[in-house]
Amino acid sequence: MYSKKKTIEIDRVHIWHPFTQMKDFENTDHKVIVRGEGIKLFDADGNEYYDTVSSWWTNTLGHCNRDIGNAVKKQLDTLEHVIFAGFTHPFAAEFIDLLKGFLHPSLSKYFFSDNGSTAVEVALKMSFQYWQNLGKKEKTRFIMLDNAYHGDTIGAVSVGGVSMYHKLYKPLMFESIKVKSPDCSTCHLRKSEFTFDTSGCGCNIECFKEMEKAIKDNSGITAAVIVEPLLQGAGGMLLYKKEYLQLLEKTAKENDVLVIYDEVATGFGRTGSMFAYQQAGTVPDIICLSKGITAGFMPLAVTVSTDNIYNAFYDDYFSHKTFFHGHSYTGNPLACAAGIENLKILKKENLPYSNKTALECFHSKLKKLSKYDFINDIRYIGFIGAIDVVKSRKEKTLFEQKERIGKKIYEISLKNGLILRPLGDTVYFFLPLIVTDKDIDEIFKKTEDVLLRAVTIK
Ligand SMILES: Cc1ncc(COP(=O)(O)O)c(C=O)c1O
Repeated sequence: MYSKKKTIEIDRVHIWHPFTQMKDFENTDHKVIVRGEGIKLFDADGNEYYDTVSSWWTNTLGHCNRDIGNAVKKQLDTLEHVIFAGFTHPFAAEFIDLLKGFLHPSLSKYFFSDNGSTAVEVALKMSFQYWQNLGKKEKTRFIMLDNAYHGDTIGAVSVGGVSMYHKLYKPLMFESIKVKSPDCSTCHLRKSEFTFDTSGCGCNIECFKEMEKAIKDNSGITAAVIVEPLLQGAGGMLLYKKEYLQLLEKTAKENDVLVIYDEVATGFGRTGSMFAYQQAGTVPDIICLSKGITAGFMPLAVTVSTDNIYNAFYDDYFSHKTFFHGHSYTGNPLACAAGIENLKILKKENLPYSNKTALECFHSKLKKLSKYDFINDIRYIGFIGAIDVVKSRKEKTLFEQKERIGKKIYEISLKNGLILRPLGDTVYFFLPLIVTDKDIDEIFKKTEDVLLRAVTIK
């Protein structure tokens, strides 16, 4: 293994990190992480950090889960990869057989890819081609939400609504129909002081009106609506009510528009149910899954559709209805082995449902932060929680952008043995399903200390 010194030398000269202004690291180095165990990561100097962001929201069962590690090791001696067109393998079959047990039976056709963005690209192209294959050539557009984030490839960016990530690329994008975000944290009709779990918001889903109009006015030209169900993650961990999804399902169906749920972030237990859509009792036409699909071990994704969509592609070769899409690592056996073991563990341990006490502890700790005037909204769903940091809630004053409060929080958190990686001024927690009350106690003690220091630094 390269030493810390050698790692940093190479990193500084040659490695361009994602979502990073590299100049921010002119006078400081990237942390060199050498080991992971449970909820913690360890650096080359032996310091430990609570990984409260689950390594980009992928890790669900803690780092270096032994059973998943052993399953991948065993797979390495059997089959590491095979072309997935014209060939299949038992590891993909077993994985899908297990996964279908967790999903609604109408979601029955599984298309593999290898990350969240590709899962979304597949969903967009699939829903577009569905209508082309049916001869409804005008249905080419997508309806999406403001604050949406679906990945960084051009298709995913075209249905994205976070201006910091997406605005610059406008000349490259296809045009989508954007609808206001149903975000409860900025809703002027909210009756409760904080969003919390949205149950006290007391609205009548007035925000759906704009979506309803968009669907009805554009049904003739719209292929699908795409949403992140219940939680808009990268847009700021924004929550909305399950009734919005119920109205969306009904309206889309009545107007012949497909519904795509992007559960890349929310899937595999993170929202307190196996999938977020289950809390709403709705079922999409297409669902996109990745991140927690291998508990953070291997890159893998699936885009799952109904028989109805699949059947629109199923015809003689010269009908030209084939779905011409695929990636080199499609259905990779090592990733499937990790996925199989992950699903077996979730089933055996009845996760996320069996870890209720930690969830209650997490939510109550979040609520207690309301005593601080520098905390504006507080919200949570399952193992995800977020707080907006402001100068003063009472005086309604925000930090100026140039103060970069999020960056300060990140840097101080690392000194405190914790990884907090705010989205703008929103500090969030994306905890693994195996987190304990003791971990949560420690994480919140450290977080309070970090926040108190960050908001007082000039
Ligand atoms: C909801 C959602 N969709 C898609 C993606 C893109 O996933 P990936 O980074 O694996 O391409 C993300 C990533 O954060 C996401 O949160």
